[in-house]
Amino acid sequence: MAERKTARVSGFHKLGQAERLEVVAAFAGLGEEHVAQLARGSNIDAELADHMIENMISTIAIPVGVATNLKIDGIDVLVPMATEESSVIAAVGNAARQCYDNGGFTTSMSGTRMIAQIQLLDLADPARARLVILERRDEIAALCNACDPTLVRMGGGFCDLEVRLIDAPSGTMVITHIIVDTRDAMGANAVNTMAERLAPRLAQWTGGRSLLRILSNLADRRVARARATWRCADIGGEAVRDAMVAAFEFADADPYRAATHNKGIMNGVSAVVLATGNDTRAVEAGAHAYAARDGRYRSLSRWEVTREGDLSGVLELPLAVGLVGGATRIHPGARALLAILGVDSAERLARIIAAVGLAQNFGAMKALATDGIQKGHMALHAQNVAITVGAAGEEVGAVARLLIERGTIDAEAAAGALAQLRGA
Ligand code: MEV
Repeated sequence: MAERKTARVSGFHKLGQAERLEVVAAFAGLGEEHVAQLARGSNIDAELADHMIENMISTIAIPVGVATNLKIDGIDVLVPMATEESSVIAAVGNAARQCYDNGGFTTSMSGTRMIAQIQLLDLADPARARLVILERRDEIAALCNACDPTLVRMGGGFCDLEVRLIDAPSGTMVITHIIVDTRDAMGANAVNTMAERLAPRLAQWTGGRSLLRILSNLADRRVARARATWRCADIGGEAVRDAMVAAFEFADADPYRAATHNKGIMNGVSAVVLATGNDTRAVEAGAHAYAARDGRYRSLSRWEVTREGDLSGVLELPLAVGLVGGATRIHPGARALLAILGVDSAERLARIIAAVGLAQNFGAMKALATDGIQKGHMALHAQNVAITVGAAGEEVGAVARLLIERGTIDAEAAAGALAQLRGA
């Protein structure tokens, strides 16, 4: 029987970088090219960077780590995360460890459909125009599908049509939504092309004037869902559980808290989106718009106590990520990091990201509802401050320890500690 891979890698954080990469490479069966790419820092050369954006002068590197302990839909995964923030990756691994023996995460997805919007103005008879457009559904489907035969061959393409009337100060706008299954592509290019091709026809059929033609980042036909249950005994008992539920209720009731609570979720989500070369801004805009979908900005996650007295967490958010097209394909670092995940569809990627978001939220809520987050942040923060003042090699840990012992972590204290160490 083939050996089952486990993401429960104990002592991973204690290994050196090269050893960690070896563990990850063995776990994921990475090829030499990907390993070499990651060992070099998963960066890109100037020529490629120059093709990706305009006026390129440099690149900026962000650390990439791997979250351990995640079991998602019965499969163990090591998840690469690109983040500049300390404690984020450790929090995911800790949260995942605490529900691993209870089955880990279960995920699902509403589909991989994207929406593009076409705005029509100057219509004297918007209600009639709406029906004129809806009557042309078959023609619209054919026109959209003709824009992207490859997508259609992959099982994607036009799915649905909606026409909305929006009252604006200058008159009623007719807003057409084309809903397109973009499969393994994030889909912005595909749906924008369709919208641009369709717009003049809509104007011609209705007598209106078309203006904007662009996808919506409120990708609510592409919602990824994750849930997990943490046994009460595994998370420190009823007091911790109840404090976490109270923390959620605060976020769900108050937009000031919800913004921070959801930011914590996005710490995990955006780190995987970035590592895999996907569009962090698209996902973030979609998540926050979704959090306000019933007219008030709320928590993206929900936390409850189960009949058995355990803690259940669920998360739902739009996740427009792809595996084909854009940086996911051309950025060699993103390709190597995707190989660690071993995903074969954009849907699986989105579902993994949702599970990471939920784990991240668990970690933040548990810390906030118990010790506060500063305790956990201290060690890495102290190391960062030590590096800022010029500590190198073993000095970094030594300065950080002195700062923590003395209870003051700032540049002045770090400079003093470093001078003392060097003097000694
Ligand atoms: C910090 O980056 C994220 C948190 O503020 C999230 C939260 O408050 O839930 C800790």
